[in-house]
This record gives sequence, C-alpha cells and structure tokens, in this order.
Amino acid sequence: MNAQIDHALEEIRRFRPSPEFAAQAVADEGLYDAARADRLEFWADQARTLLQWEKPFTRTLDWSNPPFAKWFDDGELNVAVNCLDRHVEAGLGDRVAIHWEGEPGDSRAITYAELTDEVKRAANTLTDLGVRSGDRVAIYLPMIPEAVVSMLAVARLGAIHSVVFGGFSADSLASRIDDAEASVVITADGGYRKGRVFPLKPVVDEALEKSAGSVRNVLVVKRGENEIGWNSDRDLWWHETVATASNEHEAQGFEAEHPLFILYTSGTTGKPKGILHTSGGYLTQAAFTQKNVFDLHPERDVYWCTADVGWITGHSYVVYGPLANGATQVLYEGTPDTPHPGRWWEIVEKYGVTILYTAPTAIRSFMKLGRQIPHEYNLRTLRLLGSVGEPINPEAWIWYRHVIGGGSIPVVDTWWQTETGAIMISALPGVTDLKPGSAQVPVPGVSIDILDDDGTAVEGEGGGLLVVTEPWPSMLRGIWGDPERFKETYWEKFGAAPDKTMYFAGDGARRDEDGDIWLLGRVDDVMNVSGHRLSTAEIESSLVAHPWTAEAAVVGASDETTGQAVVAFVILKASQAERVTDPAEASEELRRHVATQIGAIARPRQVFIVNELPKTRSGKIMRRLLRDLAEGREVGDTTTLADTSIMQVISAQVR
Ligand code: WTA
Repeated sequence: MNAQIDHALEEIRRFRPSPEFAAQAVADEGLYDAARADRLEFWADQARTLLQWEKPFTRTLDWSNPPFAKWFDDGELNVAVNCLDRHVEAGLGDRVAIHWEGEPGDSRAITYAELTDEVKRAANTLTDLGVRSGDRVAIYLPMIPEAVVSMLAVARLGAIHSVVFGGFSADSLASRIDDAEASVVITADGGYRKGRVFPLKPVVDEALEKSAGSVRNVLVVKRGENEIGWNSDRDLWWHETVATASNEHEAQGFEAEHPLFILYTSGTTGKPKGILHTSGGYLTQAAFTQKNVFDLHPERDVYWCTADVGWITGHSYVVYGPLANGATQVLYEGTPDTPHPGRWWEIVEKYGVTILYTAPTAIRSFMKLGRQIPHEYNLRTLRLLGSVGEPINPEAWIWYRHVIGGGSIPVVDTWWQTETGAIMISALPGVTDLKPGSAQVPVPGVSIDILDDDGTAVEGEGGGLLVVTEPWPSMLRGIWGDPERFKETYWEKFGAAPDKTMYFAGDGARRDEDGDIWLLGRVDDVMNVSGHRLSTAEIESSLVAHPWTAEAAVVGASDETTGQAVVAFVILKASQAERVTDPAEASEELRRHVATQIGAIARPRQVFIVNELPKTRSGKIMRRLLRDLAEGREVGDTTTLADTSIMQVISAQVR
C-alpha cells in the first residue's frame, strides 16, 4: 500500500525549472510560439541557422506524394562538413570533439582538427576502394573513435552507412549486408567487453561466407590484438591504409534528400527493416534537439550519451547531433561494471561530464546496486540528465535526479524511434515543468496526437495509439527496397485515404489532465528489452529453425531491470523425444541457439518446454495468456480457446 501511495504521489509531482537554470537555458518559450505561428518556416529557420548549406534551399517541404516527404530538397550540403570542417574553419579546431575511454582504461582525446583529418584520410581510403556516392558500406565496430570516423567518412562521400551493432551474430550481419548489398565492411579484430576481448573480424568472415557476395573489401581496425584469419585479396588494415592516406579531401555538397544511412530495426515480422534516413532534414532535427533538449552549450559542456553507435541513439546523439553542434563528448567502449561497478561514475568524474543521456534499464540496475557506489565519486559537474528507450518509471526518475543529479537538476525523458530519427516528445529544460514518468510534450515543430483504434482523436484526457499527424524533418524516408511495406506499416493503419495519412508509431499512450503524454509501451508484437527493440516473430522463427523445435511462441514479459524480457514456450518434435529427455538441457540449448542466430541481446530469459500452446479455434496463438503465465499472474479469460483446459496443462508444465 505504501509503495502505491508513493507511486501516486510521485506521479503528480512537478518540478519547476530553477531560476538559475532557466536564466542560462538555450531554449525558451519563443520556440513554441514560432513553431505554432508557422511550422514550416520554423523548421526552415532552424535548417538555415544550425547548418551550413553549399547551396541554400528555397523549398521547405514537398508533401505532394504522401507518405514520401521531401525536406529542403533543392538545397545541397555535406553532412560531414557540417560536423567537422566548418568548426575547424570557425577556429574551433583545438576543441576536443571526443574524449575516448577504452574499457581497460586506455584513453585518447581527439580534437575537431584531428577528427576532420582522420575522416578525410578514411574518405580517401574508401574512395581508393571504389566507394562512390550512393554505395553502401557496412560498419561492424566496437565503441572506438574509428566507428565515428567511419560513419562520417562514408557520409562525406555521399555513400550510405549501415551500422550493425557489434553484438549481432554472423547471420544477422550477413542478412543486413545482403539486404543493402554493401560493397565494403569496416570492422575491428575485436573490442573490449566485460574485461575480455570479443572477436569481431571472425564474425565478419563467417557472415561473408554466408552472404551473397556483394562485399569487395574488409577494412580492419586493430583494437583487440586477438588472433584473426586474413584474406589478402579482400582484407586491409586500417593502420596501413587510412593512417597513411592523404589528409586532403575536397568534400562535395549533396542534395538534401541524398540518403545518409540505413539502420535495421525489428518490426512485427521476422525480417528486420532497413530504415532509411536522408541528409538535410535528419541533420536539422538532430542538431536542433541536441541543442535545445540537452541545453547544449558547446563551449563549456562535456556531454556523454552512453548508447552504442549501433543503435539510432548512437547515430543521432553520439555522432550527428553533438558533432553538428561542435560539442565535446565522452565515448566509452565498455560495459558499466567493468572493471568495477563504479566505472560510469568514475568516467563522469574524470572528464567532468555535465550532460548525461542514458536508458532507464541502466538506471534501474544502478538503483539495485545502491547509492553508495555513485556516492564515492564527484558527480557535481552534472547539470542535466536525459533518458531514452523505454518508459522511465517515476521511482527511477526520482532516483536518477536525486542520487546521480544531486536533487535539483532537470531530467528529460525523450520519446522517439529509429524511424523518427530524432527526439519527438520531451520537456525543454529551463522551460517546461517536469513530471516524473511522463515524456510530456512534443518538441516545437512536431505534431503528435492520440487516436482510438478506428482513427478518431481522443479529446482531452485519455488513452489510445500514438500518431504523428504532420511530416517532420528527420522522419524516415522509407524502408530500404520495400516502399509497400513502408506505406502499410506506418501510414495506412487508419486507412489509405489521404486525409488519414498519419504516422503510426506502434506505441500506446495516454494524455493526462495537463495535456502531458505518458508512453505505455508497444501495441504490436515488438518487445523492448533493455531499451532494445526485438521482434517476437523473429525470435520465434529462430526457435523453429532449430531441429528439435516443432512450434514456438514468444512473449515479452515485464522485468524489473530490463523493462521486458524474452520468454519462449516451445513444443519439441515428437521425433526428438528419445534424444531430448532433459527439458532443462533442451531449454539451455534453445537459448544458446537464439543467441547464436540473432545475437546475445535476443537470448530468451526463459524457454519453457511444453506439450501444447493456447490457440483459438482459428489456430491463432493467444500470447496474452502466455504473458500472464510468464509474469506469474493468474491466467486471464480463456473462453475463446479451442480447448479451454489447455492453460491448466501448460501452467502445470511451467511451474
Ligand atoms: C520505446 C530508441 C517510452 C518506444 C530511441 C519506441 C520509449 C521504441 C521512449 C523505439 C521513452 C523510446 N518512453 N518509450 N522515452 N523512448 N521508447 O527504435 O516503444 O530503438 O517505439 O529507438 O522504444 O525504439 P528504437
């Protein structure tokens, strides 16, 4: 009961910006006024003031063929120049762009001048390898500076990067390489994680054996010093090519709608979608939100976003947002608890981090460890905290603000997606009163609504489906190679008529009496584990691909630390009954199998071996009932099951 009262009290708690913070804040009410007065002119203005254009644009938005938007489309710019050269030309070459910290404790400080140089060299090397505008380059790297350099070098050439998170398996990497027909892969021998070197190049080798053969070259950074195989017709060392390449490179401007990157994400089907982002609009909104949501003062802040560059948060808020603003940031290679549980706080102290952006799952695991660990470090430099990836529960919000932030600094909860490219819903620090647990309000220039299942807007207080009602600059421009899937998945939820063209986010949301938005999690078969999106269907098809499996059903069960956890129910093939006698062993084997097929992040927390799955008369698996079981709840209404006694049988097997 007490916990419930606490919860309720916290939910209605509000925090006004302190006058000192507000006085120095980058953002002000005027941003909302300007966006309300003329949304398109507001974005045009941001694009002109935040970015350097080789050729100025005269058109802001072309929405004549929805849902295919074009922003600033007669303008030209070079994204890498915007992140690098122009800062050096403005006299900021000596400013540190990246304070890199390796997991074992080695470190490097890289200035804007040095980073620009390195990107030019890498661009020259990629050109030598035949990479041209529009070509795809896959990047499979640990969190080392070369990851940032590679992305920017690809962007500089007008080529398209596809970063694949280093935790993905050879199969996942191969399917992404094939889908995008990448001609070059950039990787490392290995990287540090949890105190050990994890190999990457061997995974690339294995992926390329499986792949269709578009890859001509593999560029390898030496990091782990681990033993690797070498194909001298194909493989090149970074330190023998990039390091010796010329640092002269003339960048050319590309059209604002020139593709910048593809990033794969899980959807409701088994096949990951290649989300496509383009240049001018993406960079405008990434730069705008970086500056205003994080109250960035590039001349004095030290910013740290803990996301891996393999995810959208790493793209927009490790690479493009901070660098477009000329910020100084920390880049950390390893895990939060290596070699000791205070590692993150040691880094905050060491570099004097002022702005920290991380995920609720991390905050909750620190809460579990207790406040004495962060209290051993000086965290007084922190002046703003951010959260992303999943709903942050009010308890975690309060803990974050008090224990990490010292009790009085703003915490911004930012809602957005791979598809939206940049932050869409968030308080503006110094302007908005903060409310723990709520992502609050759309950023200026973004139009959000909550609809019923039939597409009617929910007036005032109430819950429903989250939609974006107007195009926004950093919106996805498509799914690589699949325009139909793009339309169906995101734009035709409420019908295909032009007046129903609205972006369906796949999230449930509620508006409270103040108009603040609360995110309620996914409404489709997408799970959110530690802030990472995983597809139910993808894990099911991986389980079914195992020779022992006859049928599989996967659900996302709520988990105290990771938000959700993957729980699978598997029926083994009758033909395997003699071979597989120990269910515990079978379950272990299947967990391992998913980790090898997709990647360790997809490894189910539990695999239950059962004889039956709950199905409706039409044969549809009722995941809702399995979720009840996985969460240890009483099983809900079973009347629509073909056989209503099935759940008792399954419950007995699971317990
Ligand atoms: C969830 C990550 C609640 C949501 C940037 C969304 C959130 C999915 C929040 C996108 C938040 C992200 N509050 N839920 N502040 N931020 N989500 O593509 O379900 O990896 O649809 O992008 O994460 O995940 P993605």
